[in-house]
Amino acid sequence: MKRILSGIQSTGNLQLGNYLGAIRNWVKLQNETECFLFAADLHALTVFQNPQELRHNTQEALAMYLACGISEERAALFPQSMISEHAELMWILSCHTSMGWLNRMTQFKEKAGKQRDQANAGLYTYPILMAADILLYKPDSVPVGDDQKQHVEIARDIAGAFNRAYGVEVFILPEFLGMGPATRVMSLKDGTSKMSKSDPSDASRINLKDDPDTILQKIKKAKTDSGVFPANPDETEGRPEVKNLINIYCALTEKNPEFLYQQFGGKIFSPFKESLADVCVESLRPIREKFNHLMAHQDHLNNVIGQGVLKAKTVAEKTLLEVKEIIGLYKG
Ligand code: TYM
Repeated sequence: MKRILSGIQSTGNLQLGNYLGAIRNWVKLQNETECFLFAADLHALTVFQNPQELRHNTQEALAMYLACGISEERAALFPQSMISEHAELMWILSCHTSMGWLNRMTQFKEKAGKQRDQANAGLYTYPILMAADILLYKPDSVPVGDDQKQHVEIARDIAGAFNRAYGVEVFILPEFLGMGPATRVMSLKDGTSKMSKSDPSDASRINLKDDPDTILQKIKKAKTDSGVFPANPDETEGRPEVKNLINIYCALTEKNPEFLYQQFGGKIFSPFKESLADVCVESLRPIREKFNHLMAHQDHLNNVIGQGVLKAKTVAEKTLLEVKEIIGLYKG
């Protein structure tokens, strides 16, 4: 059986982009693959986190995976930091990663901006931890949104460099797996920037926990333009906000945009927005309800996480031992 691995930073407030670009695809893949899905709490530390909130957000992220339809029988769900092999392998891999590769990473450039010297070293070495997360579990593919593609590519580069250095094939080169029409959901306020849980404006995103009224208000206020709803794909050109709303609609309903052009083409935006709000509310309602139920039953949730940790640990431990053997670390 093929294996997938993926994770989300546990910085709170999982949003629609996380669902459409990642979690929903895991749900689709879980019946035919073995899944390792974690909450990336170590990666979250690249930005200062309130300790209580971080712990809570980590548990919430894993509860959200279940609420979105991940089956505890099919997937190992675990917090990254509970498997110490991630951090240990990261050090070993960092000795096989060139500075040139890290310097090319667009995420560091974007996040560090002009304050490069003030940025913490974790932000810079972040891709090596991500490579360790992936390579420990030897997955065939890594289902993530578009923004993580470069990270999967560097994980492949690092795996290849390690394998070549020792003449081994210990690491499998994982495939990037982007799926569906929503590998890049954009902000509701700016169609040129990604929807993100770290955007200071809550109105820029739909959080998976948002109640129906909040969703309705956010969609009503979502940026469009002074034109009317497009009647064909050509009329979406140069209109990133409009394209994004159509994409969200199509991703949630798994329909082709053609019927939207027919139904709403040439009209003002509000009837479309009402319909989109309905679709969002009804898609997220069962998720929110299941999430609330899971969070109210901590024993069950902690038990699921405990099982996930055991399963992940067994695999991670084995790979790290192989690596230590290959590179000649002392065994006693
Ligand atoms: P993170 O937490 O930024 O995002 C988690 C997942 O959600 C996807 N995503 C989106 N997809 C479409 N549109 C959006 N607006 C959007 N926003 C987020 C991301 O592409 C991702 O799939 N570095 C990773 C976490 C990580 C990881 C890993 C992932 C750590 N180790 C190992 C895979 C494998 C991150 O920060 O994702």
